[in-house]
Amino acid sequence: MSDTVTAFAPASIGNLGVGFDMLGLALSGGAGDRVIAARSDTPGISIEEVRGLDGEIHPYLSTDPRENTASIAAQSLWDAAGATGGASLKVHKGVPLQSGMGSSAASAVAAVVAVNALLDEPLETAGLLPHALAGEQYASGGLHADNVAPSLLGGLVLCPTVLLPEVVRLPVPAGVSAVLVHPELQVNTAHARRGLARGYSMEQWLQQQGYLAGFVAACMAGDIDLIGRTLRDVVIEPQRAGAVSCFENVKEAAMRAGALGCSLSGSGPSIFALCEERKGLNMASAMEQACLALGIECQSWVSPLDAEGARLET
Ligand code: HSE
Repeated sequence: MSDTVTAFAPASIGNLGVGFDMLGLALSGGAGDRVIAARSDTPGISIEEVRGLDGEIHPYLSTDPRENTASIAAQSLWDAAGATGGASLKVHKGVPLQSGMGSSAASAVAAVVAVNALLDEPLETAGLLPHALAGEQYASGGLHADNVAPSLLGGLVLCPTVLLPEVVRLPVPAGVSAVLVHPELQVNTAHARRGLARGYSMEQWLQQQGYLAGFVAACMAGDIDLIGRTLRDVVIEPQRAGAVSCFENVKEAAMRAGALGCSLSGSGPSIFALCEERKGLNMASAMEQACLALGIECQSWVSPLDAEGARLET
């Protein structure tokens, strides 16, 4: 058992367009949060510092352990393990807040992975999921694992709330990349969730079920053409697209550049596309150009679909 450990948890694409609240993809390329956990004499979980992307003390993320996703997740694990004594956390953000890149999930996941390593009897990785979810739920105002599960486990994960804590890591087709563009805008996920319609038509329900089933089948079969015909969101995307001023232009640019599909990442503002690997860099450039043409600064990542999940760095 170590006294100080560091864990890294990657950013992720929630919903992956076609699977609201139940499909998520881990991102590679270095976007992720780090949590350094150390044994402490203060009982329970405390937070020593939270730093932002610039490495400075974060201007408003709370160090009150009752108000931070990382500590809430870690405390849930600590209590379940019946651990004595305490642990203090340093949370170093690498995922922009309110970006649709699973920022709060990455903090919660990194925290449980780090704190788990301080326990006398650490849990298997999958056993950490409910604890990371406790932290994520605090931030997003709903129980959904589509950021937490891929950030923890890596790759593409099917994680319907009705099956939790069971989740299924799906096979991914060879030769496909995910491209994510983060425009310098912010969308609050909890707010975006509250704004969604509660009733849907039978037609919408059947259509979306069809796309989701087809997409999962496409992944299982490695059928890239079928991915291109099923990566659609006829229910949530139309309700949220208006909150991201560059969405339509970026999507159009992605589809013109040969994307298999393109949608919001989580509740946005980030936008992702899946495409053949060889088109990844051009795709990122086309999507970025569409943002910049509207005067919106942005950053992009190109990731394989089997990116590694959270891990210890020490
Ligand atoms: N599935 C959640 C939502 C994830 O879209 O509200 C947010 O990242």
